[in-house]
Amino acid sequence: MERRTLVCCLVFLCFLIPLTAADWNILNQKTQNGLKISLKNYCESWRMNVELHNIINFQVVPEECTEYIAKYVKSTQYKVDSERTTEECLVYLSTSCNLKKDGKDAWIFDIDDTLLSTIPFYKNNLGKKINVTALEEWMSKGKAPALDYSLRLFNDIKSRGIQIILVSGRREHLRSATIDNLVNVGYHGWTSLILRIQVSSEKTFN
Ligand SMILES: *[C@@H]1O[C@H](CO)[C@@H](O)[C@H](O)[C@H]1NC(C)=O
Repeated sequence: MERRTLVCCLVFLCFLIPLTAADWNILNQKTQNGLKISLKNYCESWRMNVELHNIINFQVVPEECTEYIAKYVKSTQYKVDSERTTEECLVYLSTSCNLKKDGKDAWIFDIDDTLLSTIPFYKNNLGKKINVTALEEWMSKGKAPALDYSLRLFNDIKSRGIQIILVSGRREHLRSATIDNLVNVGYHGWTSLILRIQVSSEKTFN
């Protein structure tokens, strides 16, 4: 079946996913160009560049920044940023998106830290190298909360008759736990859920 697919990415919290701590010496609080900065300046800049996808494949949140990152994801600022992001998605949908309205329009969502929050897991693991076994154990319990603004966006998109496709780095063995989790927190009516095919030697998560 031919399907026109609009790939619209929402990246809220990609800094929670694994990369290398930058070269920054806590004792030498200057940037490469000699700009004097505080730890907060450094950490906020790190966070923003992760969100912009300039910093990718990091292993851990820099140890000196875990408090700043934790504070941000619990802050009103995070809520405001999330709300703004979803509003901009809706503006895009209503203006330049060019929906065909022929039943083949589709929107793709990632799951972790887009629809569901992994913050409860990272609360105890922030700043530690990702342990896929522990993360999958946590996911298999199906207790990830919804990201409220994403749920609203999901429902809005669905109400416009757009098909919703979920694509996740989660592996197949997590399918039923993932479905239960999504449904329990209010996500219903997606068209398909595409998970990573199980490869026993595979131990990456992204
Ligand atoms: C990863 O998590 C599993 C399950 O909780 C645990 O058994 C294992 O020791 C952890 N591995 C490391 C390297 O911490």
